[in-house]
Amino acid sequence: MKLWGRILWTLLSGSRGRRGAPQGWAPNSWKPRSSLSGQLNATEVVSHWTQVFEQRGIPEARKSSEYIVAHVLGAKTFQSLRPVLWTKPLTPKQLQYIQELCSHRLQRMPVQYILGEWDFQGLSLKMEPPVFIPRPETEELVEWVLEEVAQRPPAVGAQSGPLILEVGCGSGAIALSLLSQLPESQVIAVDKGEAAVRLTRKNAQRLQLQDRIRIVPLDITSEGCWTHLLPWGPIDLVVSNPPYVFHKDMEQLAPEICSYEDLVALDGGEEGMDIITRILTLAPRLLNASGSIFLEVDPRHPELVSSWLQSRPDLRLSLVAVRKDFCGRPRFLHVRKSAA
Ligand SMILES: C[S@@+](CC[C@H](N)C(=O)[O-])C[C@H]1O[C@@H](n2cnc3c(N)ncnc32)[C@H](O)[C@@H]1O
Repeated sequence: MKLWGRILWTLLSGSRGRRGAPQGWAPNSWKPRSSLSGQLNATEVVSHWTQVFEQRGIPEARKSSEYIVAHVLGAKTFQSLRPVLWTKPLTPKQLQYIQELCSHRLQRMPVQYILGEWDFQGLSLKMEPPVFIPRPETEELVEWVLEEVAQRPPAVGAQSGPLILEVGCGSGAIALSLLSQLPESQVIAVDKGEAAVRLTRKNAQRLQLQDRIRIVPLDITSEGCWTHLLPWGPIDLVVSNPPYVFHKDMEQLAPEICSYEDLVALDGGEEGMDIITRILTLAPRLLNASGSIFLEVDPRHPELVSSWLQSRPDLRLSLVAVRKDFCGRPRFLHVRKSAA
């Protein structure tokens, strides 16, 4: 499932988007040719919808079509369908369902919302608009955190795995994938969005991870918000994929993003630093003496964060490592608390 998130990321630099579903296309203005209904097989339907999507300028036409047809036939990908299903005629009901889902795609709805679920780090998560769809590079952030945890000696007297705070949990992708791979750990997941908090709760239940996660509705820019978190501390790790898009770049977002996803999940203010600096300001009060912060950021941020930290020696935080994403861009930061 990595491909779609990658596509969505590339869409960030795609055509200029705007709020509200794109116009110029009525969802029901395409109907399957009735003479073909009931005789078309899955491969033909994929080709047909690929062509329709291409004609309408829908990005990733073939992938969109394949995911939708596979979903209606009960599989995650077209390639994973039993080969016999590629050529078996579809029923009128299946064709109608495919048409219904494809009409959403024609309205530029992301495939993840159309299908209602998406995989992240091997977990199947429910997806509901407008909650942010997890991107594939965020899987790399999770992998980095897991590597670091594996390398750390357990704290003296510690009887469990690290206590982790995730800021801006969205669908719960980061928090739940960490929990599923760190069976001794506990996570506190906060988000200011009600829909995000609800969806993380649903996903935690769905994955039977609800006993090791506290999901807290919290705006981390609110006055004194850290006092809500203090009783659960000290925390070993803070992890976040915060809103980090530079405000001036918001108008470049693809229609898939700006019509359906919560823009609060993306807009990081003038230099994309509003929530990043808020996390860095709060974290020292919550972290244990050698605690760490792992962040996903824009490629311009490593330098900005480094100089911002130099201007705030009172925080006693140092940027100790920067990692590149699968496209070779510096996208992940490890910031560590140093001894007083
Ligand atoms: C980029 S999304 C990341 C979601 C999820 N962690 C992921 O990687 O898929 C950022 C999240 O931060 C949340 N957020 C934005 N501002 C916030 C704030 N001031 N306090 C808490 N959460 C915030 C948004 O609601 C959104 O869910």
